[in-house]
Amino acid sequence: MTDALSGEGAGTPRAEGDPPIVLGITGASGAVYAARVLRALLLAGRRVDLIFTEYGLYLIKLELGLTAVSHGRLEPLRDHLDVPQTAWDRVRAFRNHDLAAEPASGSSRFAGVVICPCSMKNLAAVALGLSETLIQRAADVALKERRPLVVVPRETPLNLVHLENMLRLARAGGTLIPAMPAFYQAPRTFDDLGDFIAARVLEHLGIESDLVPRWSDVGPRGHKGERPQTPAHIPAAPRPEPGAASP
Ligand SMILES: Cc1cc2nc3c(=O)[nH]c(=O)nc-3n(C[C@H](O)[C@H](O)[C@H](O)COP(=O)(O)O)c2cc1C
Repeated sequence: MTDALSGEGAGTPRAEGDPPIVLGITGASGAVYAARVLRALLLAGRRVDLIFTEYGLYLIKLELGLTAVSHGRLEPLRDHLDVPQTAWDRVRAFRNHDLAAEPASGSSRFAGVVICPCSMKNLAAVALGLSETLIQRAADVALKERRPLVVVPRETPLNLVHLENMLRLARAGGTLIPAMPAFYQAPRTFDDLGDFIAARVLEHLGIESDLVPRWSDVGPRGHKGERPQTPAHIPAAPRPEPGAASP
């Protein structure tokens, strides 16, 4: 990991390759989603510019049991993710108050921004274009530069303010992937649930992953497992003839 936290590492030359993904972790429940998205990005060979809010870090400690993690000490998170050091070396961490850091500028070549999980506070701030913190500014830059902005909001129940902020963000070009894992792929662990969301996030960033099997492989018309047939009153879609062109 490059230490850009105090600005000391911010000028460090980076390896060439795909531009980084900015990952903002805010104070909504669901640290497992953040961890699995970070892990998936690193295992996909991507560089990640990591930014925590204070409560994002608090929830990493609380929900993942990583009490020793701090802004300046992310090794417990690295060990939790169980990724090779070569992958971890592609992580740079920035302070959320550092509005002069690279992700704050549209001239920086980051490929997209993910806020996962996203608190209702940060959802509101991004929907309103406040840009008071580095996470909010990077999200604003993504929207203005027409780069992917993927937000994983988590709250329940949702009030009208939350819903209107989501609508506003979707209209501005953001992609909302609520922290709502599905269960049809028979998850067994919290990490499985996190991987479901991580797979959706990577898909919307245009990054290949094989985190969870696709429905086309595991569904009733797939070939990799026994699954119940669709209810009888739903007419079966005709199966394409082998070799037939797609519609
Ligand atoms: C244990 C805990 C769980 C929380 N879960 C959520 C949540 O799921 N969604 C949410 O919007 N806020 C949640 N909050 C409240 C936010 O952390 C709080 O609004 C905070 O100001 C968000 O700041 P941030 O967006 O800068 O991290 C939670 C707070 C705590 C202490």
